[in-house]
Amino acid sequence: MVKEALKKLGSTVTESLEQLQITRIGVGPLKNDTVRASERWGRKGRRRREQRRREVTLLRGFPYEPHQRWWDRLAPRAVAVVTGANRGIGFEAACQLALHGLHVVLASRDAARGQEAAGRILAEVPDEADVSVESRQLDVADTASVEAFAAWAVETHGGIHVLVSALSSLSLYSCSHVVCVNFNKGADNSVEFAEQVIETNYYGTKRMIDAMIPLMNHSPYGARIVNVSSRLGRANGRRNRIGDASLRGQLLKDDCLSEQLIDEMITKFLEQVKQGTWSSNEWPQMYTDYSISKLAVNAYTRLMVRRLWDQPEGQKIYVNCFCPGWVKTAMTGWEGNISAEEGADTGVWLALLPQEPTTNGKFFAERCEISF
Ligand SMILES: NC(=O)c1ccc[n+]([C@@H]2O[C@H](COP(=O)([O-])OP(=O)(O)OC[C@H]3O[C@@H](n4cnc5c(N)ncnc54)[C@H](OP(=O)(O)O)[C@@H]3O)[C@@H](O)[C@H]2O)c1
Repeated sequence: MVKEALKKLGSTVTESLEQLQITRIGVGPLKNDTVRASERWGRKGRRRREQRRREVTLLRGFPYEPHQRWWDRLAPRAVAVVTGANRGIGFEAACQLALHGLHVVLASRDAARGQEAAGRILAEVPDEADVSVESRQLDVADTASVEAFAAWAVETHGGIHVLVSALSSLSLYSCSHVVCVNFNKGADNSVEFAEQVIETNYYGTKRMIDAMIPLMNHSPYGARIVNVSSRLGRANGRRNRIGDASLRGQLLKDDCLSEQLIDEMITKFLEQVKQGTWSSNEWPQMYTDYSISKLAVNAYTRLMVRRLWDQPEGQKIYVNCFCPGWVKTAMTGWEGNISAEEGADTGVWLALLPQEPTTNGKFFAERCEISF
């Protein structure tokens, strides 16, 4: 549409809208209202986010008051499981939860990398800090591994209080631990690894939630599940949304939302990928496979809240998700604009929120609620 509008104005437009180079013969560069409005909106959004980041940095400086520290009232210590915790945002979430005084189970797909990461936390904290961390192998894509983890958690700790799901199969960058190969960057939108991305990000998260819910310890303060998601997974995002309006509507309506609907969406997308018929008009336009996996995580977060709403007092489980922002980690090839420490903040804050006022089934970024 932008292209059409510009043509009407007598402009020549390069083929790529990415680079939108507009040259009006003999008159020089021209910007139409659409472009200007979009730029203004972008600048405003960036300023707002920057301001909010500064506020959150300040908030992070305030220690929790004793009356807020519900986890201190549990004996033995509250147990927090963090998946995908050997690096990136998961590692930082594990580190911050441990510093707040919870016992952290740092779950890692590779046992040695998990041990090394747990060792790093213990080595980095001040001597006087009473920090308790252990690592445990867990591959969320492997049902047997998840079952073994659950059996170990019950046997060792009797259950858990907090689950933070921070794993990610790489969509933006394919990363072996030696080199990072970027196969989906900027305007690229490869779906070559769609199955793996959705299997880890959505089905892995779901598998872990389903296995951990029966193990969530009962306490008057409730238990918490925090899913690391992304703004890219919004059903109705401004720049990235499900193109199929009917599906979008169903996903956003609590009455229509079901596990079957999520599965059908994924099956349809993966079928189209196999047949080479998928089109970004129907699906989220940016990083489509990754966005669908996060959309599914968001939808499952809401679904879980509905399933768990009638848990009796003392057995409540609060489930929320958040977007960490654009974070400098392996997933982004370290190209983000904030550190993993900052990126983990909203997740840690959600994991430690008090049970009153109740925060349940919501989506957050920079400690503020955002829309699904
Ligand atoms: N970085 C960003 O800008 C950004 C933005 C929005 C959302 N997020 C989300 O934030 C979360 C963390 O991402 P990150 O940026 O910290 O990425 P990261 O540094 O690449 O870390 C990803 C983690 O997931 C683990 N993982 C992958 N597959 C796994 C599996 N099958 N079982 C268990 N663990 C597995 C990885 O373990 P290995 O070391 O074994 O591979 C690694 O620990 C993800 O959910 C991501 O989608 C990130």
